[in-house]
Amino acid sequence: MKPTVPTAETDIYTRRESEARSYCRSFPISFTAAQGALLKGADGKDYIDFLAGCSSLNYGHNDPDMKQALIDYIAADGVAHGLDMFTDAKQRFLEAFERIVLAPRGMEHRVQFTGPTGTNAVEAAMKLARKVTGRKNIIAFTNGFHGMTLGALACTGNAGKREGAGGGPLCGTSRMPFDKAFGPDVDTLKQIEMMLDNPSSGIDAPAAFILETVQGEGGLNAADADWVRGIERLARKHGALLIVDDIQAGIGRTGSFFSFEEMGVSPDLVPLAKSLSGMGLPFAVLLVKPEYDIWTPAEHNGTFRGNNHAFVTARVALEKFWSDDRFQGDVREKGDFLEKRLGEIAGLLRGARLKGRGMMRGIDVGSGELAEDICARCFAHGLIIETSGAHDEVVKVLAPLTIARETFARGLDILETAVREATERTAIAAE
Ligand SMILES: Cc1ncc(COP(=O)(O)O)c(C=O)c1O
Repeated sequence: MKPTVPTAETDIYTRRESEARSYCRSFPISFTAAQGALLKGADGKDYIDFLAGCSSLNYGHNDPDMKQALIDYIAADGVAHGLDMFTDAKQRFLEAFERIVLAPRGMEHRVQFTGPTGTNAVEAAMKLARKVTGRKNIIAFTNGFHGMTLGALACTGNAGKREGAGGGPLCGTSRMPFDKAFGPDVDTLKQIEMMLDNPSSGIDAPAAFILETVQGEGGLNAADADWVRGIERLARKHGALLIVDDIQAGIGRTGSFFSFEEMGVSPDLVPLAKSLSGMGLPFAVLLVKPEYDIWTPAEHNGTFRGNNHAFVTARVALEKFWSDDRFQGDVREKGDFLEKRLGEIAGLLRGARLKGRGMMRGIDVGSGELAEDICARCFAHGLIIETSGAHDEVVKVLAPLTIARETFARGLDILETAVREATERTAIAAE
């Protein structure tokens, strides 16, 4: 292979940053500061953030209370890195998580601190399900996204991401059709049940089912509660565990702390990451029903399981936003507003469809090319927004849940303008 000689003619990113870089290609300016739902660009402009760190910033950028608590903690020489040793910050986080999240929901789950990314929590869930059941096969779903490490990638559907494994092993999983994968009239539960009941279907007995209640990267496909309950029933029937990956849909994104909590299911394992720290700091956990917590000490290890700065901000986030129902009520109202506005915007485009749930919604505009064009126009008008879906055909709104109503409306106005401009160009408006 020919070596590339860096030259000073290109910028530092082009010269030195790996080709794997991605979001910076869609938003090619430097950002210098961030507050709430706004990012400041080096061009002096404020950009409204409808990407929110891919749902890692559900409480917006630099929440003042989390920031102050972190500043105070650092100023007092609080432990920054603690492996998985006991610290004051860790204890206070766990106590708040038990008091505010687990106990009121009747969840007896243990909290396993994994490496700090979502994919690590998913790996832990897969390993544990296999250890518990002595089986290898994990059933994942079409359009599911669970991370980039090899185990989690084996559960991820996206062809482009799977190619990243370079032909390496993506094994130990089976794929089944997600809810409404064949359209609203086909009951995929029946198909899955048949495949599992038939000993000649070629599907090995599953260790677990892994699903997202709303598929974040896979196109904002929202599963019905009935379907999720059906998968839980099949898991119980076949001696498999239920893993609900709430990394993107959890922590308030769909309106409740967990995306599944009003579905009448009781997942055995729940990976959480993204907005768990509240401030965008890396932090992931796996919630494990006590009877399945069969790890031996350090069996799933990792140097960065004790991000104490994240423990501090995560605790403040729980105390501030989840101690009563107010935040939840506010998120639900904003979700209704978003549904209404997006419905109106979708109405401008022939064949466009509204997708998602709560504050995790978008518009399927029919093609990746159009969705990309709309997002590029949004950026030119000061809005950061991305696509999702198998063909990147869904324009996806992931605004911070704390966004001010006026800013939210302004961002949606920009989206509407961009849709109008893009449709004028391609002449595919509804009428
Ligand atoms: C549902 C889901 N699971 C897992 C992951 C992986 O998380 P991370 O990127 O922190 O590894 C993501 C990331 O987008 C996700 O959306």
